[in-house]
Amino acid sequence: MKHAEITGWGKCLPPAILSNADLATFMDTSDEWIASRTGIRERRVCHCNFSDMALVSAKRALAAADLDPSELDLILLGSLTNDSLCPNTASLVADALGARNAAAIDINSACTGFLYGLHIGTNLIRTGAHKKVLVIGGEFISHYMNWSRRDVAVLFGDACGAVVIEESDEETGLVAASIGCESDAKYAIQITNLGSAYSRMTDDFLYINWNFEGQEVFKRAVRAMAQACEEVLEQKGLSISDVNLVVPHQANKRILDALAKKVGLDEDKVFINVHKYGNTSAGTIPVALTEALEEGKIEPGGHVLMASFGAGLTWGAGLIKWSDRITPLTQSDADLPPCNKTALELIEAQIKRYEERAKVTA
Ligand code: UT7
Repeated sequence: MKHAEITGWGKCLPPAILSNADLATFMDTSDEWIASRTGIRERRVCHCNFSDMALVSAKRALAAADLDPSELDLILLGSLTNDSLCPNTASLVADALGARNAAAIDINSACTGFLYGLHIGTNLIRTGAHKKVLVIGGEFISHYMNWSRRDVAVLFGDACGAVVIEESDEETGLVAASIGCESDAKYAIQITNLGSAYSRMTDDFLYINWNFEGQEVFKRAVRAMAQACEEVLEQKGLSISDVNLVVPHQANKRILDALAKKVGLDEDKVFINVHKYGNTSAGTIPVALTEALEEGKIEPGGHVLMASFGAGLTWGAGLIKWSDRITPLTQSDADLPPCNKTALELIEAQIKRYEERAKVTA
């Protein structure tokens, strides 16, 4: 039986920081409301394309694995904010990396995109179909934000992360997983006015809106992630006390506190960075995994539990048995181009566009 060792990891955070105080300059909100309801203090805004963030995190992950891109045979990219409908973003990353021998697939399961990708990639390695896979997860969600929606706009941010997985004889990597979808609640998170279900002949087309049932998502997220965590532990005959660290999807600190309570976990075993980046959807877990390694929170041979939840409503959990190596083999100096604007300047035109639209439709 083959396994899929995680041999490399990397993250990319765009430099422009949008604080809660920045948001309060143009919407009726406050640092107190956002921090107390979500734990979020600030988030990042991307100044380039999503594929640029994906490429930087990919190069950093490949350097950590000391792997030449030509050795990759598959790239899986989880995102709902791709550069274009066609070509897919995994192809853009493959070309920019020089990964000439890799198939390239985009996965859109929203926030669970990275976990879904890791599950699929791991199982393709287990079957022998692939040997060296790059799994990327990230989002350029500010691009699709409707800045007139204070209940949504304060929650999200831009980021990307990636891991390299390689065939191994050792039982390591993603050793158990459970993924699913509560499709009966598919419209609890919905981006409207973009996509082939929407007529291009109306003035509404491209004026993105969000249907967002925050409390419904909150309740379902806690229940589904807790259940998925129990399922993966049961698959390996382990209990929550065997877990060294939980690296969950970072949507809301209150969701993570409720999850920890439900599964009977000490809060200090839950990795949290939502205060710095907000909800970066498919980016949260690979970024958090990378930071957990950088901060020495993952032990050689330790068990890391991941749980995720997002639009669809897709859910999942995965248990990683980390290998002996917790440090990168080499470092990449890849980075984004410099950014000469503040986060508020980057989103200024979008804010105005929605304000003007609101006047027209009032
Ligand atoms: O990754 C998956 C996607 N993530 C999620 O879907 C997140 C899940 N849900 C949540 O995190 C929480 O439900 C929210 C953070 C979205 C909302 O927290 P809540 O405690 O459920 O607040 P609420 O929806 O009950 O809103 C309470 C009040 C409302 O005012 P009224 O009707 O009570 O007068 C809102 O209009 O807070 C108001 N409000 C705000 N006030 C200031 C909503 N957004 C804001 C805001 N600033 N940004």
